[in-house]
Amino acid sequence: MINEVSLSKEEIKRQFDYMSDISKIIGHGKKIFVQTFGCQQNEADSEKLLGMAEKMGYEKTNDPNEASLILINTCAVREHAELKALSIAGGYKHCKEKNPGLIIGICGCMVSQEHRKSDIKNKYPYIDFLIGTTLIHRFPEILYKTITEKKRNFVIDNSAAIIAEGLPVSRDLSSGSAYVSIMYGCNNFCTYCIVPYVRGRERSRDPEAVLGEIKELLNSGVKEITLLGQNVNSYRPLSKAQYGFKDLLTDICKLPGEAIIHFMTSHPKDASKELIDVMAKNPPEKGKIGISSRFHLPLQSGSDRVLKAMNRHYDTAHYKELIYYMRERIPDITITTDIIVGFPGESEKDFNETLDMLKEIRYDNIYSFIYSKRSGTPAAVMENQIPDEIKGARFQKMVALQTEISKEKNFEFVGKTVRALVEGISKTDDKKLTARTASNRVIHFEGDRSLIGEYVNILIENAEPHVMYGRQVYGKYI
Ligand code: 5AD
Ligand code: SF4
Repeated sequence: MINEVSLSKEEIKRQFDYMSDISKIIGHGKKIFVQTFGCQQNEADSEKLLGMAEKMGYEKTNDPNEASLILINTCAVREHAELKALSIAGGYKHCKEKNPGLIIGICGCMVSQEHRKSDIKNKYPYIDFLIGTTLIHRFPEILYKTITEKKRNFVIDNSAAIIAEGLPVSRDLSSGSAYVSIMYGCNNFCTYCIVPYVRGRERSRDPEAVLGEIKELLNSGVKEITLLGQNVNSYRPLSKAQYGFKDLLTDICKLPGEAIIHFMTSHPKDASKELIDVMAKNPPEKGKIGISSRFHLPLQSGSDRVLKAMNRHYDTAHYKELIYYMRERIPDITITTDIIVGFPGESEKDFNETLDMLKEIRYDNIYSFIYSKRSGTPAAVMENQIPDEIKGARFQKMVALQTEISKEKNFEFVGKTVRALVEGISKTDDKKLTARTASNRVIHFEGDRSLIGEYVNILIENAEPHVMYGRQVYGKYI
């Protein structure tokens, strides 16, 4: 039984009252700098924090030196992400020395762990407040108390299964794309993963609220929407019995407008053939809402023995069946995955089985991670932790194999014309634009900046493992 609390209108109104009080206190001209680490869910949370801050009168800045309020939204999935956020937080100490009125807050997964909360409380006296992932709706109240009571505030509650509707969101819609969270938390407890401990139990938003938000985005000209959740396949709103993720996708595709819907992340134990059928029935088409021909299906390991130790609840045979079904129903599908190397007890044989899966499935791209010990998770205390040198060598071998496969897969597009949404200026060459196909392939091409946020047809002329190059052409796309 999910112990879920949809926040009452009164509670949300209370937070709006704090927003209004703060705007009166701070007046005009104060700036906020928000720095986000980690996944898309964190990006989406930062958009809400910024939305609330703007309602309080703050203006966004990209320069921490001119900010009166700095917010660091942290990640805890791997140790590296935590250390980076802590070192960044350490760096802001100097900003506070220069500007004593500066307020610094930290939120996100890292600070939702008790040991990090007490570390920050004791060792980072210049951090003024801390808010856990499940309580970000209380940002106005916490900030108000920090300002008026001149006291540090630290609130986390990982048992709070809260859904807060109606908070302001500040999105940059210039690229034509937007994130929409459809659910929060995770109940899967994969043995390596910290997420279920820091994001609370799984809870799904009401479909009416999701559809309403999507309609608004469509009206604002958004052309690509990514639905977010730790495991979107177990979307199950309490308000509507028997209603699942495939029903939500079906209803989204019935809305008027033109857009492509992406979703992430999926879990192989819950991704169903029926979901794949809904994707096949609703491809992206001109003048319609369609579902992207892209599937991100984390495998984590190609060894059944390791998958069991990871508590993943599927084996490689089940996984392959889903992949073959996807390719049968949606032949041009782009398939990507997450892999962890060096999980405790992973033998050379287990690792080779993962390489064999990469060779057999031939993913378009993989996101590979070296196993990172997360305190409080079952895998952290498993025997046979793999030494760093072995983990590193396996990681390199896997990346080299996948680079070859990704290159070959991208090369298949040379000479073809694809339709892609222009996202912005290329980060590696400011004379070029970056566009993305419905199946998430990245293309760099020369074009006018007015094309940003628009669809174009591009003839692919060259390819590398992670990017294709082409030129804009007119006419029908493939
Ligand atoms: N170590 C390494 N990678 C991890 N991931 C999650 N937890 C860990 C960990 N402790 C990876 C998984 C997941 C992705 C988001 O991060 O592959 O799918
Ligand atoms: Fe972590 Fe597993 Fe939940 Fe994904 S499904 S967030 S890997 S526990």
